[in-house]
Order: sequence, then C-alpha cells, then structure tokens
Amino acid sequence: MIKEITILPGQDKNENKEIFDQITLQAGETISIVGPTGSGKTAFITDIELLAQGDTSTRRYILINGKIPPDEIRYDPAQKPIAMITQNTKCFADLSVQEFLTIHARARKINNQQIVGDTLKLANKFTGEKIKLQNKVTILSGGQTRSLLIADALLIGAAPIILLDEIENAGIFKQEVLEIIRSTSKIIIFVTHDPVIALSTKKRLIMGNGAVKKIVFQNKSESGAAQNLLEFDQKMGIIRENLRAGYEITQELVSANFA
Ligand SMILES: Nc1ncnc2c1ncn2[C@@H]1O[C@H](COP(=O)(O)OP(=O)(O)OP(=O)(O)O)[C@@H](O)[C@H]1O
Ligand SMILES: [Mg+2]
Repeated sequence: MIKEITILPGQDKNENKEIFDQITLQAGETISIVGPTGSGKTAFITDIELLAQGDTSTRRYILINGKIPPDEIRYDPAQKPIAMITQNTKCFADLSVQEFLTIHARARKINNQQIVGDTLKLANKFTGEKIKLQNKVTILSGGQTRSLLIADALLIGAAPIILLDEIENAGIFKQEVLEIIRSTSKIIIFVTHDPVIALSTKKRLIMGNGAVKKIVFQNKSESGAAQNLLEFDQKMGIIRENLRAGYEITQELVSANFA
C-alpha cells in the first residue's frame, strides 16, 4: 500500500541545493507543476517515475512511505506503482481498444464486467472524437490515445501514482480533469501550463533553472480565481468546439459568449 511519496531535494542546473526540506504527497492528493520551458518540470516527474536515488541529473531522492524503495519495485515494470502519460505516449500493441482494456483488466484480476465499458465511457468524456471499442489502439490519434490511457490508469491500472505531462494539449476537457482532482484516491501530479488546473490543486510547485523555486498552497482567493477562470474557460471552450466543428467564429458569437 502506498500511503505517501516523499521527494528529497536535489540541485539546480548550477548544482545549487534546492530550497525545500522535503515534499510529501499523500494518497488522494493532487499537485501541479508550473514553470517556464526548460525549467525542469518533466525532469521532476521523471525523477518520480524512475524512483530516483541521487542517480539522475537533478540528484533528487524519492521515498515511498518514508523509505527507499527496494530494487524490485524500481526495476520491475510490473511492480512499478507509477503510470506516466506524456504528450508522446503511444500504444504499440496490435490490439483493439476492447482487447487492450480486457487484457489489462484480466491481468489485474478485475471481474467487473462493466469495467471495459466504464473505461471507454470515461475516455470518451475526455476526448472530442469518440473512441470505439473495435478501433485498433495503434490508429487512435494522440489525444485519443492519451484519453484512453488516462481513463485506463484511473479505472483499471493499479498504479497509485499518476504523472501527467501537459495533457491539456490533448484536447482533454477540463471539467472532467477537475472532477478527477476532487475525487481521486491516487496521487496525481499535473505538469501544466493551464491556470485553471494549476489553481485547482492543493499545492503547486514553481520550477526554475532545474529546481523547485517555490511551493504555493491553495488559498481562498486563488480558489475563487480558479472558479472565475473556469467560467471564462468554459466560454472559450464553446468557441473552441465551434471552431473545431468548422463553424465561422463571428464577433457576434464571441460577444454573445463573453458578454
Ligand atoms: N536540476 C537539473 N540539473 C541538470 N539538468 C537538468 C535539471 N533539471 C532539468 N534538467 C535538464 O534540463 C532540460 C530541460 O528540462 P525539462 O525537460 O524538465 O524542462 P520542462 O520544464 O519540462 O520544459 P518544457 O516546458 O519545454 O517541457 C532537460 O534536458 C533536463 O534533463
Ligand atoms: Mg516538459
């Protein structure tokens, strides 16, 4: 059982020690990671995915339940408690969506007959163009693939830690992401450039020059701001969906939405 993970400080790109003592994330907690391009966001979650022990360029250490994880957990993919989904994540198996999900559920000894349907339904909540059970996983688009893998990681996967690297560009609908942030029992880390997602997690890490520069805790004012931004975002979403569907985006449409 993974109750928490701890990140111990490493060093920035100039080999200066990071400023925090430790960062601990409990099951059910979501955090976001923000920062400029090249500031070390992906490197941070990669440290977690590798369960780094001072052996990556950042020199961080990752503990599970306060202890150094044993080698079999570090090096056996089947035992790895972590699912990482990035912009480049692809499925390579020559399987249909149905086969892919069924095999995974069987491997996890999940007997619930509904699980495949539920996972597809969740994936299709994330994505615009619907995924079908008979689609081959290899022909899914980038956004569809990430949607399927996130739904799979949430509902079928055993991994109690999910790392998501800039999934907003997958065209994943924010409302669903926020629902997950509210209800998950896993540890979910979002690398994001999206203000709504960043302001909706309890903690956010600000990266710079390869190091954590600041840890910000959610407060009332920021939660309120997130709510306001979400409203803007939903309006922007309507415009985006109209655009994607091929409609003309007129000034009237924009002012009707943002009035
Ligand atoms: N502490 C560090 N020490 C040395 N190299 C580092 C450190 N942190 C990150 N790097 C390296 O810097 C480069 C950029 O880092 P990274 O890819 O994590 O940036 P990013 O914030 O994810 O950027 P983007 O927004 O473009 O995805 C990588 O090659 C990474 O290995
Ligand atoms: Mg990155």
